[in-house]
Amino acid sequence: MNAIEGIDLTRRYGGFIALDSVSIAVSEGQIRGLIGPNGAGKSTLIDVLSGRAENRSGTVRLFGEDISSYSVQERRRSGLARSFQRTNIFPGLSVVEQLDLAARYAEQPNVDEVLHELGLVPYAFQRAADISYGDQRRLDLALALIGRPRVLLLDEPAAGLTMQESMEAAEMLRDLAQRWGVTVLIVEHDMDVVFGICQHITVLHLGKILAEGSPQEIKKNPEVITAYLGSAA
Ligand SMILES: Nc1ncnc2c1ncn2[C@@H]1O[C@H](COP(=O)(O)OP(=O)(O)O)[C@@H](O)[C@H]1O
Ligand SMILES: [Mg+2]
Repeated sequence: MNAIEGIDLTRRYGGFIALDSVSIAVSEGQIRGLIGPNGAGKSTLIDVLSGRAENRSGTVRLFGEDISSYSVQERRRSGLARSFQRTNIFPGLSVVEQLDLAARYAEQPNVDEVLHELGLVPYAFQRAADISYGDQRRLDLALALIGRPRVLLLDEPAAGLTMQESMEAAEMLRDLAQRWGVTVLIVEHDMDVVFGICQHITVLHLGKILAEGSPQEIKKNPEVITAYLGSAA
């Protein structure tokens, strides 16, 4: 069973095609890595799947149900959550206030559960602006986990963290996804992290799918190597 499926997804910015007829299917329970050089269209794909983008076309299915015409909020209520590449938190609100806000319309307002899972209990009553950057990123993830989504789209959740912190965050995520039965599509630029937690990887380049496969297949794919070397500057 595919948890989330995008078929023929296209997204234009004026005359520029940022996402060009991309199709992707992530089976239930999988942690899928989404990689590609800067500007490849990774965030755009997450936007289109989550219903955020305008000027988009194509079909999105969530556990077989066509949700293409659903708004962001309707998708969220159907079990599709996302996080953003840049933090989406309100700096002036406390950790628990933000989680309460996110839980307002959730069928399962699991604020306490999420606080515990992400180790945010000690910071619950601190303003988001006053906690460490690493804890802010965990709060981003926590916000996406409110309501126990069935599918999580994560756009560089470990951006700005050290290698060690990224690895710990990734392992925590893998463990949580397994216990909750969440399917994950994760954008992550660190290859060690991606190869460490994903069974399957999709590579985007210039708005198209360049390759798809296991970490072993992706690592030795000559087109993938060229795409990365070509954008090394
Ligand atoms: N708001 C926008 N207006 C115009 N072009 C955009 C906009 N957002 C993104 N793009 C372009 O779309 C392409 C894909 O961007 P993005 O999805 O952010 O890439 P990635 O997340 O893989 O780095 C890039 O060429 C980027 O410059
Ligand atoms: Mg991006």
